[in-house]
Amino acid sequence: PALQAISESAVQSHEADEKYGDAMNWDELEFGVIPTDYMYIMKCPNGDNFSQGHLAPYGKIELSPFSGILNYGQGVLEGLKAIRTKDGHVQLFRPEENALRMKMSAERLCMPSPSTHQFLDALKQTVLANKRWVPPEGKGALYIRPLLIGSGPVLGLGPAPEYTFLIFATPVGNYHKRGSTMNLYIENEVRRATPGGTGGVKSITNYSPVFEVVTKARAKGFTDVLFLDAATGKNIEEVSSCNIFFVKDNVILTPRTSGTVLPGVTRKSIIEIARDLNYLVEERDVPLEDVLAADEVFCTGTAVEVTAVASITHQDKRIEYRTGEEIVFHKLRVVLKGIQTGVIEDKMGWTMLI
Ligand code: COI
Repeated sequence: PALQAISESAVQSHEADEKYGDAMNWDELEFGVIPTDYMYIMKCPNGDNFSQGHLAPYGKIELSPFSGILNYGQGVLEGLKAIRTKDGHVQLFRPEENALRMKMSAERLCMPSPSTHQFLDALKQTVLANKRWVPPEGKGALYIRPLLIGSGPVLGLGPAPEYTFLIFATPVGNYHKRGSTMNLYIENEVRRATPGGTGGVKSITNYSPVFEVVTKARAKGFTDVLFLDAATGKNIEEVSSCNIFFVKDNVILTPRTSGTVLPGVTRKSIIEIARDLNYLVEERDVPLEDVLAADEVFCTGTAVEVTAVASITHQDKRIEYRTGEEIVFHKLRVVLKGIQTGVIEDKMGWTMLI
C-alpha cells in the first residue's frame, strides 16, 4: 500500500502539471530511449527469494564489475507495451504471458524469477508512476522493459549469487523508421539460434550476435534480416526482432516454436485471432519453397506489432508480396489493434487496465 501511495501521488502531481510528458512532440516519436520518471527494482539477495521491490527515480544502476550479467551474460529480458485506449485509459496486453515467459527464460539460464504476482504488481506500479509518458492514442506506446540479471559477483563459471529484477520504460513510435512495410534479407551463413541453444527463450545473449548481419543488411537498404535454421539451412525461423507469418490462399503458416524460435506473445495472439476468424493456421517447418509461393507475408512482435513484408531477398532473387488494406494481414491487424486500443471488445480477457 505504501508503494501504491508513492506511485499514485507521483502520477497525480505529474497530471496536475501537465497531462502528458513535458514538451513532448508525440508526432516525432521513434523507437529509442527517452528517459521517464521511475523504474522498479527488486533484489533476490540469496539466489532464491525476491525481497520486497520498490520504485526509484529512473537512473543509473550500480553493478559489480564481476557481476554474472557483465561477464557471462546471465540475463533475460521481456518487452511489452502500455497503450492508451480510445477513451484515454491505459492498458497492458497479456502481461501474464510475459511473466510466464520470463520464468521460462530464467529457468533456462539457471536464475530465480519473480512470481507472476510480483511481476504484475511491479508492472502496474511502473506504468502508473510513468503514466504521463504513455503517448496519446494512435501516437505510439510506452514500451516497458522487464529485465532480470545476475547482479552478484562471480568468477568461476556458474550462476551469480544475487539477482536484480528491473522494470523501466520509454515512449516509442514505430520500430522501423522507414515506412510501414518491411523489406527482408535472408541470411545464408550466420544463424540466430541452434538446436539445444537459447533461441526459444528471451536470453540477452540472443541479440548481439545478429548485430553484424543486421547492420550490413540495413546499409544495403533492407529493413531487417530473416534467419534460417541452423540444422539444415533450409527452413525459415525468425527475423532478428520478430516472428514471421506467410499466407497462401486462406492458409496461414508460421515456423513452429520448438526451441529455436521465440514464442512471441503477438505471434500467439495473431494465431488465436486467425483461428477465431476461421483461417487454417499451420505451425510447422517453413521451407524456402513456401517463401517463394506465399501471397503475403507479415511479421509480429511487441516492438514491430503486425507489419506487412513487401519483399524478401534470397541470394540474388527478390520476391515481392501483396500489401494493402484488403488482405489477410490487415484483417488480423485490425482485430489485434482494436483489442489493444479498446475499440474492439476484449472477449478473450487479454487486456489489463492500469
Ligand atoms: C520486442 O518486440 O519487444 C522485443 O523484445 C524485440 C526487441 C528487439 C525490441
